[in-house]
Amino acid sequence: MKYLNTAIIGMVFAVAATSNVVGGEVNSLRGQNELANAAKMFDQLRVVSQKGGFERSWKTQPPSIPHTVEKDRINLDENTCMNCHSPEKYKEEKAVKIGDSHFLDASGAKLEKMSGRRYFCTQCHTPQNNAKPLVDNTFDSSGN
Ligand code: HEC
Ligand code: HEC
Repeated sequence: MKYLNTAIIGMVFAVAATSNVVGGEVNSLRGQNELANAAKMFDQLRVVSQKGGFERSWKTQPPSIPHTVEKDRINLDENTCMNCHSPEKYKEEKAVKIGDSHFLDASGAKLEKMSGRRYFCTQCHTPQNNAKPLVDNTFDSSGN
């Protein structure tokens, strides 16, 4: 009997939990849109190119990429970002040299070559487009 009671209580909780979700109390950032609506083709946004780069929001922020990267490849054989951003190439390409922090190992010691931890550039650096933010952001980059 004790076992049966526990089972019934369990079922009541399970039903209550399910109806919470169906009742719409859990909201996604998309709002209450039918799932099928998302199947419509979205507008493809253009990557914004900006001369001089984007302003950083804080000192150690990985700067955003101010150019397109569609043709770049980062894989086992090549990293085309380094064709322009490596210490050897950046002057000739009028690009920016990879940051000083890219030459430090995990314990902060200086390395001759770029740390392997920085190989996958787009893990931290991303191109930008004029997307409308999903939610408002009141972040103040001046630190106030
Ligand atoms: C053909 C050369 C070229 C290639 C390839 C290239 N970049 Fe750039 N990149 C530039 C130039 C030139 C600038 C400077 C643009 C400016 O400031 O007007 C720049 C700027 C940047 C900046 C901004 C730096 C800052 O301090 O604001 C980042 C970050 C960056 N690139 C990352 C990348 C990544 C990641 C890749 C690969 C996915 C890449 N770039 C591939 C030429 C290149
Ligand atoms: C783990 C995150 C991370 C990865 C991976 C990474 N970066 Fe960065 N990058 C940063 C941060 C943080 C900064 C700002 C601090 C600095 O300048 O070192 C930065 C700065 C830069 C700058 C600007 C330097 C300056 O003096 O203004 C360039 C250019 C850049 N990175 C290019 C690259 C390229 C190209 C790759 C891939 C080969 C790469 N980064 C990989 C985090 C990263």
